[in-house]
Amino acid sequence: MQISTTPSTTAIEDERLAEILANPGFGVHFTDHMVTIEWTPDAGWHGARVTPYGPLTLDPATAVLHYAQETFEGMKAYRHGDGSIWTFRPEENAARMVRSSRRLAFPELPVDDFVQAVDALVTIDERWVPDPEGEKSLYLRPFMIATEKFLGVRPAQHVTFMVIASPAGAYFKGGVKPVTLWLTTEYTRAGRGGMGAAKTGGNYASSLVAQQEATGHGCDQVVFLDGQEGKYVEELGGMNMYFVYDDGHIVTPATGTILEGITRASIIELAGKLGHQVEERRFSIDEWRDGVTSGAIKEVFACGTAAVVTPVGSLKWDGGEVPAPASTDLTMKIRQALVDVQYGRAEDTFGWMHKVC
Ligand SMILES: Cc1ncc(COP(=O)(O)O)c(C=O)c1O
Repeated sequence: MQISTTPSTTAIEDERLAEILANPGFGVHFTDHMVTIEWTPDAGWHGARVTPYGPLTLDPATAVLHYAQETFEGMKAYRHGDGSIWTFRPEENAARMVRSSRRLAFPELPVDDFVQAVDALVTIDERWVPDPEGEKSLYLRPFMIATEKFLGVRPAQHVTFMVIASPAGAYFKGGVKPVTLWLTTEYTRAGRGGMGAAKTGGNYASSLVAQQEATGHGCDQVVFLDGQEGKYVEELGGMNMYFVYDDGHIVTPATGTILEGITRASIIELAGKLGHQVEERRFSIDEWRDGVTSGAIKEVFACGTAAVVTPVGSLKWDGGEVPAPASTDLTMKIRQALVDVQYGRAEDTFGWMHKVC
């Protein structure tokens, strides 16, 4: 794919950039450039370009604003000790966007074009990738929106794919600590035949009220159960879940109505290599409660690009509570192993890292 480049003439000054990278927060500062690729039925994907970062002008009748035909991805670029910059399994994000696109009746952006677009943005804005100390990174947000000016419920005939980037600080300030969870019994995020496996804005819009409920009960994150029986653990608002038994075997909820996390898939491989048997199956909330209470479940953890891996502490719901599991040993071992590969401190035996520049 040919990508044209119009460099920014107002790129951030070194001094201000250093201030931002010292304390980037999350999702508040954006780099100097963005990537855009457009699609129409006649021309296919075309017009790939890197341009200065800036606002979009959208007609008020633009389809995405009304019918939410949208997909996105979340991934990171990591600076290694030698100054080189790498992404983690970017072709998996590209493949997931293809799956989301099918569910959202979008055209499919080829995996190689997705990776090339991300690489182009990271390369031109490479000075925005923080030094590795303190688990900082450059968060990358590829997304696809229905940009046809049309009010009507049908797949848009003009689609825009973009990539923007934002420096990110460590998810945990002052060290990893267990997240406390709220079990919502009122709201679900997915149902059979729905969009649970797609990374689309609507899923996150529908999770907000449940997350508010969690926060209102003093918990960090919300846990969703399946929509049909209200019995099986699905995932958190933005992370997948794992349960570690005292005999070493690990259970994670099966895919279908959950987001197929790339961290989740990587942990299945990594845990296998560490000698743990991993079961992907339906896992009921009763198994969680009884397992932790009896001590059969030693650890519970959640995973995703943002936090990598986080221990899970107590679980609360209306009228009940399960205490924090006894240990976080394997959780922290898996976390360290993944982070070390991402930051180039351990050998990448799985071939997960992709060198950008
Ligand atoms: C709902 C949901 N589940 C799971 C995940 C974890 O996915 P990944 O490991 O690809 O970041 C995310 C993260 O984006 C998410 O939003």
